[in-house]
Amino acid sequence: MANVLSLGAGGFIGAHLTERLLDLGHEVTAVDIHSDKIRDLLGRPRMRFLENSIADRGFDLEGAIAGADVVVDLVAHANPGIYVRNPLDVFRLNFTENLRIAETCVRQGKRLIQFSSCEVYGKTPVAVLNGALPDPENPSYATFSEDSTDMIMGPVGRHRWIYACAKQLLERVLHAYGLEGRLNYTIVRPFNFIGPKIDYLPSDTDGVPRVFSYFMEALLDGTPMKLVDGGNQRRCYTYISDAVDCVSRMVENRGGACDRQIFNVGSPENETSIRELAVLMRDIYARHFSDGGKLPEIVDVDAKAFYGEGYEDSDRRIPDIDKARRLLGWSPKTTLPDMLLPTMDYYVRARREARGDGSRDTARVDSLAAPADSAPAEQDA
Ligand code: NAD
Ligand code: UGA
Repeated sequence: MANVLSLGAGGFIGAHLTERLLDLGHEVTAVDIHSDKIRDLLGRPRMRFLENSIADRGFDLEGAIAGADVVVDLVAHANPGIYVRNPLDVFRLNFTENLRIAETCVRQGKRLIQFSSCEVYGKTPVAVLNGALPDPENPSYATFSEDSTDMIMGPVGRHRWIYACAKQLLERVLHAYGLEGRLNYTIVRPFNFIGPKIDYLPSDTDGVPRVFSYFMEALLDGTPMKLVDGGNQRRCYTYISDAVDCVSRMVENRGGACDRQIFNVGSPENETSIRELAVLMRDIYARHFSDGGKLPEIVDVDAKAFYGEGYEDSDRRIPDIDKARRLLGWSPKTTLPDMLLPTMDYYVRARREARGDGSRDTARVDSLAAPADSAPAEQDA
């Protein structure tokens, strides 16, 4: 069993990973600036929580790393709205502070599992060549492999890409330390994980969450679901339980299979456009959660109006997961509808609890069968 130092453990992925690692018998020292999503884990055996910022020079980062067998680094600003609003904060946290963690691992000879992102691949050749390819729908243009795919990003003025650049540069530094034999790292490139505890509803904080939470709040409030630039962008959604199954194999690292490796972690079979995602979520909501009220309209909004200046989208991204299959024996199991139901259920319950109506049953999360009295979706996209 390993002694795991998990930085950013109080976030969406961190909360699920911590629970899984404890279930598997590992020791976890969790560090985060808050414990909201891991409150239920705080009393568990082999669990320690340090409420600290990794950027606080008063925090004993050296000591925390010294006590670990393996360090998992999840700390980042991870939502596109922040990349546009505060690009320098994204650079400082996602590159500078994470580099300090990596270099402490170098000095102490500790293994590091670094969370990067599928965003490092950037855009597809189809987006760049715009119409010059005879078969733009061919999925091979958007299927990204860890060790061979080129990375394409937009101009500096599109500052959304600072996140992808910071993550990519950090990967390149880890690789360079690895070349010198000074760091044993594993890099994780998640492809749109989704599940209970993802983000928060936008009105609950001043934050800018990922698309699931915007759509969820629209469903709960009956306000429009907004499609940025037509919702034609495509993503491959991956259920958090499948994802942490993969990452816990990296922690265990049987036979050193993950030493100095980069892994895509994603569900290639779950590709959907954002427009299809909106329609599917509205349909599931109507069938399982609606009390018969009006369902939201699905409307178009341009990116500048939604995010402000400096946004540019990643058009399509499909993970090649052959490496995770071969080296880790892992493959994802959960379909998009099957992951949306429990994820939506989580937020429906949270809203009802917040309104003091927690006693009402929500959906049966084990089945997508429509109840006999289900309401049909009112509008088409
Ligand atoms: P998240 O925002 O839920 O989690 C990040 C956590 O880091 C938060 O709990 C936050 O409080 C913590 N944190 C921020 N600043 C900190 C600081 N100074 N000190 C200590 N903790 C701090 O995001 P997530 O979805 O769980 O993502 C985790 C990692 O995975 C990130 O590195 C992200 O870039 C990467 N990632 C996630 C996805 C995904 O699908 N969720 C996709 C690609 C990459
Ligand atoms: C995000 C972040 O960049 C990273 O955390 C991470 O690398 C990645 O998710 C991931 O999860 O793998 P992205 O998929 O662009 O990237 O994030 P979302 O905010 O969830 O946006 C998805 C798509 O929905 C984008 O095309 C966005 O423009 C669109 N969108 C977003 C809408 O159409 N409507 C909304 O209300 C919000």
